Amino acid sequence: MYRLAYVSAAAEELTATDLQDILEAAIRNNAASAITGTLMFNGVSFLQILEGPEEKVEALFDRICDDSRHRHIVTIMRESGTRRSFDESPMTLNTVECPVAPLPDGITLSSDLSLFLPAGLPDYYRNILVSFNTMRA
Ligand SMILES: Cc1cc2nc3c(=O)[nH]c(=O)nc-3n(C[C@H](O)[C@H](O)[C@H](O)COP(=O)(O)O)c2cc1C
Repeated sequence: MYRLAYVSAAAEELTATDLQDILEAAIRNNAASAITGTLMFNGVSFLQILEGPEEKVEALFDRICDDSRHRHIVTIMRESGTRRSFDESPMTLNTVECPVAPLPDGITLSSDLSLFLPAGLPDYYRNILVSFNTMRA
């Protein structure tokens, strides 16, 4: 199993509809490629974790990197031989508050993130995810 995590800056004009479209495409495509993971959005930045077969994850990441709904993509982790942590869903979306920008209209905050994170998620990911709300793009 392969895992990749990155952060990126959302396009300034990103709307709630864009976010919904991204989630719907992710659920549809990732299920077909045995990819699971989570996408976090804090109003200005994305953080995504993708898990699955290496060639599928890298092919998806190439596509994601070409998407104009975000930019300044920085990979923060690539690792092989790990156990799948997000085994429940092809993609989940979590929206959190950010100190510098409000969420776009129509986007509601997710409830307590700590309740949602899978128990088997390694601490180094857990720590990145729970501190993401303080990230300023
Ligand atoms: C931050 C971000 C995360 C995305 N995550 C995924 C994803 O996990 N899976 C996916 O298929 N597309 C994802 N996309 C969308 C892809 O870039 C692309 O638009 C989509 O895969 C095209 O799917 P389609 O050919 O079925 O329309 C993401 C886009 C952005 C901006």
